[in-house]
Amino acid sequence: MDSRWDVFLKGGPVVDPTPAIQVREILGNDDLRRVPTFEQRIWHNPQPTPPSVLRVWADHGGAVWVAAPVDAPDDWVGLAVALPARDRRGWYLHSDLTGVLSAWRSRGIGRRLKERQRDWARRAGYSRIGWTFDPLRARNAWFNLQHLNARVVAYYEDYYGILDTSLTQGYPTDRLFVEWPVGAEGPPLPEGPGEQRIRVPRDIEALLQQDPGKVRATLLDVRRQFQTAFAQGWVVAGFEWSDVPCYVLRPAADLNASREG
Ligand SMILES: CC(C)(COP(=O)(O)OP(=O)(O)OC[C@H]1O[C@@H](n2cnc3c(N)ncnc32)[C@H](O)[C@@H]1OP(=O)(O)O)[C@@H](O)C(=O)NCCC(=O)NCCS
Repeated sequence: MDSRWDVFLKGGPVVDPTPAIQVREILGNDDLRRVPTFEQRIWHNPQPTPPSVLRVWADHGGAVWVAAPVDAPDDWVGLAVALPARDRRGWYLHSDLTGVLSAWRSRGIGRRLKERQRDWARRAGYSRIGWTFDPLRARNAWFNLQHLNARVVAYYEDYYGILDTSLTQGYPTDRLFVEWPVGAEGPPLPEGPGEQRIRVPRDIEALLQQDPGKVRATLLDVRRQFQTAFAQGWVVAGFEWSDVPCYVLRPAADLNASREG
């Protein structure tokens, strides 16, 4: 089934530079019906997105993409889902899900899903893509801020509410909201004096197994640091990977100076 977005975008399958993997937009109901089961294979969440919701998003300003080996196009290994969204600055594309099966991670597939999403967004007339992620997920922060160069624009306290402990793992669902410009790369990490760091655990999954109470306390501490820093005009300028990974923050004026320079 072709939607009007398919006709409008003329978005046929894109074969990525690595010959083994193809990222393509899916539009037919047979494919959309497969998404919830696949979503659960990545996130193990009890309530995946219903196909009827995906159908509506895919037809009305959003899209669903899958990544799969070129020679096995039905053996999906990655998924991305986005929907139209609006805030006080206008319309943007909100990326609700991006995930890769654990056995296929760190092979560039996540990046290719995001790049495909960005190409699509550009052709659809969006100027930015936004999404949220858990501030304690250091590898996600690294992927979002350093690989993709997305920029943090807000901190949401307990965004979803604690609804299902198997999904939230018992700690509040705080989220950083990031934006990724569609037309240009974000600014480089600014240099210069005046910086602060917000440290996060290197391996949140391991810490959750060992000491879930510590994760909750860490999150509350990280929340306090972000909220204080943002209230004082600091912005996240990047993320550093080390034994103790950390967000690097700089005064907004420094970042603006770097952008202008
Ligand atoms: C985040 C995710 C989509 C990245 O996909 P990917 O195919 O592994 O990404 P790429 O290979 O393009 O990039 C890999 C980078 O992402 C980082 N990364 C982020 N999360 C990761 C994870 N759970 N496992 C492995 N690498 C991860 C890696 O550190 C790597 O950076 P490095 O090579 O400099 O160390 C994927 O890891 C994933 O599905 N994670 C679980 C689901 C999730 O958290 N999704 C995002 C929030 S909805």
